[in-house]
Amino acid sequence: MICYQILTPEHKTDILEFESQYAPGLPVYYRHSPDSLNSYIFKNKDGRAYGAFDGETLVGWAGYSLRKKGEYEMCGMIVHPGFRRRGIGLKLFQLRLDDLLKKPGAKSISATCYPANSPIIILYLTNGFVIYNFKKDYFGPGVDRLFLRYQPQKS
Ligand SMILES: CC(C)(COP(=O)(O)OP(=O)(O)OC[C@H]1O[C@@H](n2cnc3c(N)ncnc32)[C@H](O)[C@@H]1OP(=O)(O)O)[C@@H](O)C(=O)NCCC(=O)NCCS
Repeated sequence: MICYQILTPEHKTDILEFESQYAPGLPVYYRHSPDSLNSYIFKNKDGRAYGAFDGETLVGWAGYSLRKKGEYEMCGMIVHPGFRRRGIGLKLFQLRLDDLLKKPGAKSISATCYPANSPIIILYLTNGFVIYNFKKDYFGPGVDRLFLRYQPQKS
């Protein structure tokens, strides 16, 4: 059974190890470092990360971060390749969104990803996000970025 829990600074090494093993496609300058994990999550004014555990083993993680007053960004969602397509990514997404929707001051919730990353794009688009921007060479030559934000359909 997969269990979910809030991650603490003690999990930093696990997260970095996990990211280097299971997201090898990410350019070095986009991977998290101990400092970026602090600024995005552990020392962020209102950041949080959730982990998915199979027993003691981290098999997925995802976080969010306060970027500016009222503006939150989802960051760093990865599921171990052997555990994908079992609903773990969706659960990690929902835990974050549930938190953020409860915050009275949250004016916007955004996310970014690679334009070719169809699994995450489909996950976001089927759960209330829309694409609002595309920036070419955002992280350097050939590393474009897609920008999404939460905008639920009005019924
Ligand atoms: C994106 C990722 C986190 C999804 O995790 P997951 O646990 O496999 O996702 P889930 O099983 O919860 O899938 C939820 C929904 O997302 C979509 N989805 C997930 N993987 C998909 C894929 N390979 N192709 C198309 N849609 C996909 C589907 O809509 C799926 O619902 P369904 O299974 O009912 O069709 C995982 O593929 C991953 O770790 N990718 C590499 C890291 C990464 O790129 N992270 C994003 C950084 S911005």
